[in-house]
Amino acid sequence: MDALTGRGLIRDDEVFLRMNRVERLQHILLIVSFSLLVVTGLPLMFYEMRLFKAVFSYGRVFYYRGVIHRAAAVLLIADIIWHFGYTILTRRGRENFRELMPRRKDALDAVALFGYNVGLSRWLTRKGLLRRFFDRHPFWKFENPPEYGRYNFIEKLEYLAVAWGSLVMIFSGFFMWNVELSLSMFPLWLHDIFAIAHGYEAMLAFLAIIIWHMYNVHLNPEVFPMSRIWLDGKITGHQLKTLHAIEYRKILAAREKALGPQPAEPGPDIPPGA
Ligand code: HEM
Repeated sequence: MDALTGRGLIRDDEVFLRMNRVERLQHILLIVSFSLLVVTGLPLMFYEMRLFKAVFSYGRVFYYRGVIHRAAAVLLIADIIWHFGYTILTRRGRENFRELMPRRKDALDAVALFGYNVGLSRWLTRKGLLRRFFDRHPFWKFENPPEYGRYNFIEKLEYLAVAWGSLVMIFSGFFMWNVELSLSMFPLWLHDIFAIAHGYEAMLAFLAIIIWHMYNVHLNPEVFPMSRIWLDGKITGHQLKTLHAIEYRKILAAREKALGPQPAEPGPDIPPGA
């Protein structure tokens, strides 16, 4: 038993629910709709390439590409409406949302993780340089990676990026889909900006998912070869302890409280009347 596990109230192999069935299904719908949108949208930005020229000019491929893009867009919108309703109407949804909102600590965590990964402060400390500065400002020593609550700053940023990105894509995509409506409401230059924003935001989202999200949930040594949370929703006590130590301690504290005070160590026998 180590200092974190206290009275052994959380076993390393104990299983906790991190994503319930509704959340997993919403995530899978997001994967399916987003992948279809990327596959049927991004080639349009590179239509000059010989491969895409050949594929698009084959039969009715170009037509079906557009149909699939629009069908996937409807799926994405439905998924987002579902998630919105779930977030507002359920207690767990509201709690998740609260936990996902960035706080000052998240900015400090980002700095701390960067500093820890660079390792410069540790090197300076080892060499005995800037000792007085580090004694006065221990935060800048970056001796250990930061500890996180239910969501770390990377997960929070990813969530907000999906929310913002979807908003931009749905708004711009809607007016690209309904050109006449768009031109009856906006000048042509603004409509053109919708199309430009749609294309570049798509590229940004695709790169963020491929580089950032895939690293965090697949290649990161803590979870390699893949975090299975999106499939079974489960996280073990050990993973919670190492990846979300603050959340872990919260659960521990609640259990400690429910159990009552720890029994005192038996003292030496004192004879009655002594
Ligand atoms: C978030 C996921 C999405 C991605 C990654 C994506 C990607 C793309 C890309 C790269 C283009 C080509 C832009 C260009 O040629 O400059 C495009 C075109 C288009 N997108 Fe999207 N898109 C997404 C969501 C949507 C949504 C939600 C809608 C509708 C509400 C939509 C409707 C359209 C339309 C109408 C076009 C014009 C080309 C066509 O007729 O297919 N897209 N999309």
